[in-house]
Amino acid sequence: MTSGEATQPGTAESAVAATNPTDSSLPVMSRRAREAQPFRAMVFGAKADEMIANGIDVIKLSLGEPDFGAPPAVRDAMREQYDGRALPYTAAMGLPELRRAIADFYRERHGLDIDPRRIVITSGGSAALLLATALTVDPGDEVIIADPSYPCNRELVNSFEGRVVDVPTSAATRFHLNRELVAAHWSERTKAVMITSPSNPTGTTIDFDVLRGVCDWAREHGAWRIVDETYLDLADHEDGVDVRSVLACDDGAIVCNSFSKFFGMTGWRLGWAVIPDDDAVLAAVDDLATNYYLCAHTPTQHAALACFTPESLAECERRRQELLARRRIVIDGLKRIGLPVEVEPNGAFYAYFNISSTGLDAWTFCERALDEAHVALTPGRDFGAATADTHVRLSYAASREALAEGLDRLGRWLPTLHA
Ligand SMILES: Cc1ncc(COP(=O)(O)O)c(C=O)c1O
Repeated sequence: MTSGEATQPGTAESAVAATNPTDSSLPVMSRRAREAQPFRAMVFGAKADEMIANGIDVIKLSLGEPDFGAPPAVRDAMREQYDGRALPYTAAMGLPELRRAIADFYRERHGLDIDPRRIVITSGGSAALLLATALTVDPGDEVIIADPSYPCNRELVNSFEGRVVDVPTSAATRFHLNRELVAAHWSERTKAVMITSPSNPTGTTIDFDVLRGVCDWAREHGAWRIVDETYLDLADHEDGVDVRSVLACDDGAIVCNSFSKFFGMTGWRLGWAVIPDDDAVLAAVDDLATNYYLCAHTPTQHAALACFTPESLAECERRRQELLARRRIVIDGLKRIGLPVEVEPNGAFYAYFNISSTGLDAWTFCERALDEAHVALTPGRDFGAATADTHVRLSYAASREALAEGLDRLGRWLPTLHA
């Protein structure tokens, strides 16, 4: 499939778009492999890289990757891991010291008492989401997801032959689900509700009372709550929005989290999930983790212990503050050039803005912004159907200089669209 095709995941359309091996002597791939959708943000990033390699000065605001890297103490700790020691597997649930360190982090930063046995260390937040989906979704089960939201969740549900129930959201609900929306889309097949807060692509958090309402409804109706808190520690409480871990209101939720964003460790591939305190569920997670990947990367697990020193945590907090400053540059800059965001983000490093006033659809807007203004952005299409044509994501995980320059370029380019 080409990057520009507009098929929606998990629909009859995507089945039509299914591909077989190019080499006809190879057997047919599985249905899930044929139907897997590409991550389209990568297309713009790859094209930007190609332009950069050809000597074009492109400002890349397309990818969700902080430019800070791991805290220095973590890098030092990683170097020590490679001194010739054996580096055996850890337990599938993860290095006990790291599980304890994460439990301590919940206590100190979030005021939550989590038994370390409930924490499973995973290969990135992605594998935490994989485990959560594998644990909960059977063929035909429905999973309620906000549209727009992180695209991989839909793909995971589809992989396990669940049915994604995409709920269109808007600025009115901070682009999140609420109890009324969830109730309106409920059916006897509903098995789980998936929430990502702060959200990718909007950077907005779900208000804590709203989160509680959704979780209460789902729990009362016998469904799992899977909450992706990958960006939680980058959130703030702007405009009085109450931001807390779902575990503060729903101890039975499954929480997915990551070392990628707050700790700046994208390529290190480490994350975790917090599982409900139930012997059978924990045993199942242990079995799934063993079967899927045996254990997360051993040296990284050891090195990640250095994330939780006071110095590393202070460094991560400084970076969070830096992201706040970058956010101001972006929010003010977008307003100045006539593309204001409808709801200010208060977490992650994304601004999601409506470009319909330009007369272009979001895909064309991003193509032309890259070709003509040399700014790489991500069209809404990755994140669901509701805002596919109208919204564009800008990642402000780039330097202040790059952001200012990118916004200047967009500001000079926009009037040319009307000329
Ligand atoms: C909302 C969300 N969840 C999970 C992930 C997965 O991240 P990782 O596997 O690097 O932890 C991402 C990555 O961008 C994300 O945006």
